[in-house]
Amino acid sequence: MRWLWSFGLMLACVVAPALADNNSLPSPSLPRDAFVNALLAKMTTEEKIGQLRLISVGPDNPKEAIREMIQRGQVGGIFNTVTRPDIRVMQDQAMQLSRLKIPLFFAYDIVHGQRTIFPISLGLASSWDLQAVATSGRIAAFEGSEDGLNMTWAPMVDITRDPRWGRVSEGLGEDTFLTQEIGRTLVSAIQGKHPGDRHSLMTSVKHFALYGAVEGGRDYNTVDMSPQKMFQDYLPPYKAALDAGSGGVMVALNSINGTPATVDRWLLQDVLRKAWHFTGITVSDHGAIKELIKHGVAADPEQAAKMAINAGINMSMSDEYFLKYLPGLIQRGEVSQATLDDAVRHVLNVKYDMGLFRDPYVHLGPAGSDPADTNAESRLHRAEARQVARESLVLLKNRLSTLPLKKQGTLAVIGPLADSKRDIMGSWSAAGRADQSVTLLEGIRHAVGDKAKVLYARGANITDHQDLIAYLNQYEQTVKVDPRTPQAMIDDAVRTARQADVVIAAVGEAQGMAHEASSRSDITIPESQRRLLRALKATGKPLVVVLLNGRPLALVRENQQADALLEAWFPGTEGGNAIADVLFGDHNPSGKLPMSFPRSVGQIPIYYNHLPTGRPYDPQKPEKYTSHYYDEANGPLFPFGYGLSYTHFTLSPVTLSATQLAPAGSLTATVTLTNDGDRDGATVVQLYLHDVTASISRPVATLQGFHKVFLKAGASQSVQFTVTPAMLRFYNQPMQQVTEPGEVDVMIGLDSARVNRARFTLQ
Ligand code: BGC
Repeated sequence: MRWLWSFGLMLACVVAPALADNNSLPSPSLPRDAFVNALLAKMTTEEKIGQLRLISVGPDNPKEAIREMIQRGQVGGIFNTVTRPDIRVMQDQAMQLSRLKIPLFFAYDIVHGQRTIFPISLGLASSWDLQAVATSGRIAAFEGSEDGLNMTWAPMVDITRDPRWGRVSEGLGEDTFLTQEIGRTLVSAIQGKHPGDRHSLMTSVKHFALYGAVEGGRDYNTVDMSPQKMFQDYLPPYKAALDAGSGGVMVALNSINGTPATVDRWLLQDVLRKAWHFTGITVSDHGAIKELIKHGVAADPEQAAKMAINAGINMSMSDEYFLKYLPGLIQRGEVSQATLDDAVRHVLNVKYDMGLFRDPYVHLGPAGSDPADTNAESRLHRAEARQVARESLVLLKNRLSTLPLKKQGTLAVIGPLADSKRDIMGSWSAAGRADQSVTLLEGIRHAVGDKAKVLYARGANITDHQDLIAYLNQYEQTVKVDPRTPQAMIDDAVRTARQADVVIAAVGEAQGMAHEASSRSDITIPESQRRLLRALKATGKPLVVVLLNGRPLALVRENQQADALLEAWFPGTEGGNAIADVLFGDHNPSGKLPMSFPRSVGQIPIYYNHLPTGRPYDPQKPEKYTSHYYDEANGPLFPFGYGLSYTHFTLSPVTLSATQLAPAGSLTATVTLTNDGDRDGATVVQLYLHDVTASISRPVATLQGFHKVFLKAGASQSVQFTVTPAMLRFYNQPMQQVTEPGEVDVMIGLDSARVNRARFTLQ
């Protein structure tokens, strides 16, 4: 009896610590690999599967259901919950109710600001100002981390060459180099020194890969692309963001050459892991695993789950398939334990990097420290938002120096976007609040004070197309409709315009027209607004058109009508003030277009760095059997890199430090930039290269450098670019990365269409 008792005691002594140990996390002071290995060894298969799930609170997942899932260890991360109190509830549940107490991470689409909304990404790209871009990223991370978040689904670095696609608004434009520079700047700014720091977020670069090349610009459509174009143009921005340290990658919804990215082993393993050595997590996009059935590559949900994890998806976003089917798949060996462990390891690694094991409340702080008012004005960063927004504005036309305007007389501010607080923030405006944003009308009123009289008329609805309004208002009532007839609104606007010295018309798109699931086959301004512009033009008053929109539009007619044309994109919380700064000359515009503006939709795809053809068209010497449209010009209305200033800049001819470039050498291309106008201002000097003869056709120009230069009126400055053979590397026909000897054109300009040239020989 006695021995039995002592054996029992012995057993209790051995088992009790082991059990306690098995129910708790390893010491967070262990190095990452040791920590994660020790944790993995404690986890059940169900708990491992739980870590692979990303869910959001919603009708399918009410809070109570989420609580139960957290308690059972069935959730790895939560997205779309954006306030500290709400996040804290869930982290408390994980820390108090789940067996292992593995902290959750919290993610959100912080694409261009969290509470303070910065210009949409396409606007940020228009700044060509990496400091401004970094400011926007740092503040987004600051505000996101202050709200308790750990990760953002950004930046989006999909190259976009088709303005029919609504998501061009979220991207950084058509050019690889510019996208790469801005993408890596955003990653570094958002992640800071370390993604686990108090005011950093981890980034998740998206959408891997090639989502911007959906056929016909139709969202979620197929992508079909040559390997050369893929590796030369479309993949480098993702690689640059990863090289900058992005901890996450969101996998695209589209298929690539027939294989949905979500199950593309070549993409997710050979390229991402083996060639690029990515060690962070891959996340499927919303519902992408389910969609494999509709893509026609999985017969049923179980096969979809199996294919996705075996291809290399680590976390599944908003699919319950991993939860339902992985247990059986693992039991039957159709998904190996090693594959499961590998996926879980990536999730635990990033949680470790986010600092969550050391402190699950790293971005939440102690209970009771939550802001008294989540939406407090004091939490915003207005000065920075205004400064960045000013840099993003692009002056497209300024006939007879219509702009800047004087703060005097009577100004008529007209248009459906002139006083829309929701639209000025743009889509994907995170936790930004419309009531905190400044409209153009408000910005103009602030700017002129009592120096001028400001009149306002709405003039038109965004569109008179009821179906479109219903579409835009399907999930949220964002488009407000004025019940007056279109003619009554125009009459009111014309009466208002007649009383004014100048008309400022704010027209374009509602923010929801340039968003996910917002592809257009017609990229003109909606007819209701075009009618308004015609009527305003007919008053004979000077007409300043301010465009608010999220994609290049076809603006041939507006360009003819307007005396001045300012592309404002969706400039964010401080948008109205920033636009007013430019309209009245308190800031001299310097933005440049990151996407070509076509004349008409029929020219799409249109991008500056196209390949030459065997039959180039020469408008000076038109010939029938050359590459052109007989009913439209070839070139865009406004080229890539274009944007005016209130001052005037000239560039000297290009001088080269050498006419021969050795394979391991470099040379310097120099121009002198002169501000020969009468105002101080900045412009962007752009370097393009063209490999004249190579084994495959090379683009007529590729951007390889830029400098944003500020010059006082009358001043000159020498601007230099270092040219290296690496800038001329390309994928040849058998897909080897090479540089080939031969002649190279160096082109330096203030946009991609008007450049000064020089030539050297690459040895
Ligand atoms: C979008 C992603 C986004 C995700 C989460 C998806 O529909 O494609 O860009 O990050 O939703 O909101």
